[in-house]
Amino acid sequence: MLALIYFTASSVSFPSIFGCHRHAAELPSHFTLPSGSRIPSVALGVWKASRGEVGQAVQAALDVGYRHIDDARVYNNEEEVGAALLGSGVKREDVWLTSKLPGTYHDPQDVEKSVDESLAALNTTYLDLFLIHFPVALFPENGTYNEALTENMFPTWQAMEQMVVKGKVRNIGISNFNIWRTQKLLSHPNITIAPVINQVELNFFNPQPGFLAWMKEHNILVEAYSPLGGEGQVGKTLGLPIVQDIATHLDITPAQVIISWHVQRGTVVLPKSVTPSRIEENLKITRLPDALFEKLEAAAVGHKPERTLNPSQRWGLPYDIFD
Ligand SMILES: NC(=O)c1ccc[n+]([C@@H]2O[C@H](COP(=O)([O-])OP(=O)(O)OC[C@H]3O[C@@H](n4cnc5c(N)ncnc54)[C@H](OP(=O)(O)O)[C@@H]3O)[C@@H](O)[C@H]2O)c1
Repeated sequence: MLALIYFTASSVSFPSIFGCHRHAAELPSHFTLPSGSRIPSVALGVWKASRGEVGQAVQAALDVGYRHIDDARVYNNEEEVGAALLGSGVKREDVWLTSKLPGTYHDPQDVEKSVDESLAALNTTYLDLFLIHFPVALFPENGTYNEALTENMFPTWQAMEQMVVKGKVRNIGISNFNIWRTQKLLSHPNITIAPVINQVELNFFNPQPGFLAWMKEHNILVEAYSPLGGEGQVGKTLGLPIVQDIATHLDITPAQVIISWHVQRGTVVLPKSVTPSRIEENLKITRLPDALFEKLEAAAVGHKPERTLNPSQRWGLPYDIFD
């Protein structure tokens, strides 16, 4: 039977980032998933945080209070992340760890192998969240498009469900699934565990309000990747006059405006940084006054959407993965 899915948000007071005359504002520090797991609303993203720098970034993040790391096998840095976690003195059960299934491991018999590799690299016995990284299966031999396993992804999903049954993974979800692919998975007659998370690109230039509403209606919590705009677009996003104006008005930084906006939209947010001062800055979120939140939302959705990440052509797909 399909598990009943819901999520709720829990609030907490963050240390005030304003002067002493202002009260600490509240945004959800966690969202609660159907399993009862509480997922921290802000994570450290570690894509492109390369070996040699990712360990100190994780350590800096744990030091200032992050308890959520968003990793993936293909980021090629899980070993150093695992070592940093082990050396940090922070208890494993206090940190939310996400990893993802690479496209080359979609064969159902390879799913457990992928989980085991991540567990070994991260020095842990379980993952809090395991996601299908992209709805595209690739041949392990040469990384080219495997049409059969892509067209029918349900056997891969069933192997994901088994990871929960075996206790290696606490929650399972998807990433880069558009609405119809998500619907196809959800409505499969044999599904026993529904995806609780869909991790997708969400930022000022690609805000996807209709997608967000649909996922909410179907009780799937959305995680915002490339939340500051993605590597090439961060300067453009943080330099927007509307973002600068709100930052000045609230006496916070442009990155804090954008990260707060994401959480206020009801999404988990995954800013990546290897710079300790930015890592600290990015965790300090604050509720935007309604009028400013709505102004920023209107400006974002008023743009023609621009996506920064789309590997469809690189993988030789005969279609656009997001259509
Ligand atoms: N599921 C997927 O397919 C997928 C795809 C993409 C990303 N993700 C996840 O999402 C995370 C974030 O995405 P992303 O790395 O593409 O984009 P992002 O977080 O929007 O941008 C990262 C860039 O912003 C800079 N930055 C961070 N904080 C800043 C601040 N306060 N002020 C100015 N610049 C700042 C970083 O520089 P420094 O590091 O030099 O400080 C880095 O160059 C990834 O790490 C990964 O965990 C998932």
